[in-house]
Amino acid sequence: MIRLRCATRADIPLLKYWDTLPHVIEAGGGEWEWDVEIPFEAPWLEQFVAEEDGRPVGFIQIIDPAEEQTHYWGECEPDLRAIDIWIGEVRDLGRGLGTEMMQLALSRCFADPRIKAVLVDPMASNIRAHRFYQRNGFQFAERRMFGSDDCHVMRVSREAWLAGKP
Ligand SMILES: CC(C)(COP(=O)(O)OP(=O)(O)OC[C@H]1O[C@@H](n2cnc3c(N)ncnc32)[C@H](O)[C@@H]1OP(=O)(O)O)[C@@H](O)C(=O)NCCC(=O)NCCS
Repeated sequence: MIRLRCATRADIPLLKYWDTLPHVIEAGGGEWEWDVEIPFEAPWLEQFVAEEDGRPVGFIQIIDPAEEQTHYWGECEPDLRAIDIWIGEVRDLGRGLGTEMMQLALSRCFADPRIKAVLVDPMASNIRAHRFYQRNGFQFAERRMFGSDDCHVMRVSREAWLAGKP
């Protein structure tokens, strides 16, 4: 069973190690300044390590894109959330863990009645991630450059998420 717990300083070495793995780098990860990111606290930020039976298997970040300090998402309507997600070890890919993590994260986001929709921004080339997000209720919204990264913005509205729940 997957549990999301807050990421702490003790996770930094593992997060740095995951950043060296090709599937993380290819997805556009591997560039996070963990020594700065993890101790940082802000009302618009949540960072979680996913554990399977106590073993860390992945990372998930939830932000409020309108409030995030670098304004990575540009001008954004209020009451949205944006998610970054990845699995650490290659052997843990494709085991259903990401689906469990994403469903926990979406439940967490939409538990706040103000939240209208959740965004993700996979690289345009990351076809497998597009499929993963689609299965989790996201739909293509627009193609967009974030810096030099060519990305697909995908979005799941509260209504779509509720309709897709078993
Ligand atoms: C995307 C990701 C979080 C999904 O988690 P997961 O536990 O592997 O996924 P699940 O087992 O729940 O679902 C399987 C689906 O995940 C996706 N997936 C599996 N391996 C993947 C990989 N190496 N890269 C991207 N997506 C992958 C595929 O859509 C797969 O379905 P498919 O076999 O029909 O292609 C995970 O695969 C991952 O960390 N991938 C690499 C990093 C990444 O692409 N993160 C998203 C950046 S926007």
